[in-house]
Amino acid sequence: MPLAFVDMDLLDENIVTILKRAGDKRIRLASKSIRSKFILDYVLKSDPRFQGIMCYTADEAIWLSENGFDDLLIGYPSMNTGALKKIVDKIASGKKIIPMIDDMVQATVLNEFAKEKGCMVDVCLDIDMSTDFPRIHFGVFRSPIHTLDDVKGIVDQLKTLSHIRLKSVMGYEAQIAGLGDHIDGARFKNRAVRLLKKRSHKDYSHRRGEIVNWLNTNGYSLEIVNAGGTGSIELSAEEPWVTEITVGSGFYAPGLFDHYSHFKHLPSVGFVLQIVRLPKTKYFTCLGGGYIASGGTGVIKQPYPYLPEGIEPLKNEGFGEVQTPFIYEGKETLKIGDPIIFRHAKAGELCEHFNYLSVIRNDKLIEQITTYRGDGKSFL
Ligand SMILES: Cc1ncc(COP(=O)(O)O)c(C=O)c1O
Repeated sequence: MPLAFVDMDLLDENIVTILKRAGDKRIRLASKSIRSKFILDYVLKSDPRFQGIMCYTADEAIWLSENGFDDLLIGYPSMNTGALKKIVDKIASGKKIIPMIDDMVQATVLNEFAKEKGCMVDVCLDIDMSTDFPRIHFGVFRSPIHTLDDVKGIVDQLKTLSHIRLKSVMGYEAQIAGLGDHIDGARFKNRAVRLLKKRSHKDYSHRRGEIVNWLNTNGYSLEIVNAGGTGSIELSAEEPWVTEITVGSGFYAPGLFDHYSHFKHLPSVGFVLQIVRLPKTKYFTCLGGGYIASGGTGVIKQPYPYLPEGIEPLKNEGFGEVQTPFIYEGKETLKIGDPIIFRHAKAGELCEHFNYLSVIRNDKLIEQITTYRGDGKSFL
């Protein structure tokens, strides 16, 4: 200790639930929310509807492709020219790697490498799925391609690039997939979020349908229409033009995914800290613990106390870089050397803090598998 673990029995249950939630759609794995080659491989082999990976950097796509994975959609545009050149080489040698674009600048770099290599590069266009309400931008700030007219504009410009083909589109509705609507003690906010989600869904699903239909009837037979994330699986599954849904976090079910009203996955991944000192009666201090999740900060980005039930972190110290104190007044007798179990707020980021995941099967520790970090890889 400290150590991170994955409980394979709970992971198996999450796999079944995710397949059910997705109806008959194919599911692409969001590697950023998994960050272990072993788990990616395990989930991909568990059912034929799991197909392909959504990578988060070009370097990662190269590494995965050299480690036996294929069908790699890079979920975010890259301007890492060294890595893009290698990717084009891999595409020329028959690998299926699809770079993401939302601007001619990224597409032009790829086109130059493809021209040099004498191959075609199939790209994916990221379409912004956010909705602007009066004074509220409901969504994230990523792609500038929002409307059908924006799409028409960029596909016209793409025609000038001789070695680029548009074969896929992706739209990530972050405001639905990544935003909880069932936060304890926030009744008013939950209600407002649910209402905004409903209205936004009408807006983006209509836009996506219109865009896909236009592309398909204007000479672009799209191979991939990618949508969604763990929090929006059912809604993405309802859109007939969507061909696949990206899912990552639902496999580990970290703390932030407790805050959704319409699904519940099981906490299959967590970490264990060891009590190393007893500063005062009912106070226990562990070694390590400062694994705070990225994004807008706040208490919900801290680790979630898990077992034994009733562990309370301290407001002033929080989860520290080297020491984490907490109060416990429950039934267990805790002493120096004992383990305390926590969950990370997000899924993949925990793997950046540990070289290994300790694998549990039938409540027994059976082996250790490496994380990306344990493989010597830290992509972002
Ligand atoms: C482009 C994109 N697709 C899908 C996802 C969904 O991932 P998850 O299932 O881990 O929420 C994300 C997460 O941030 C994303 O950025």
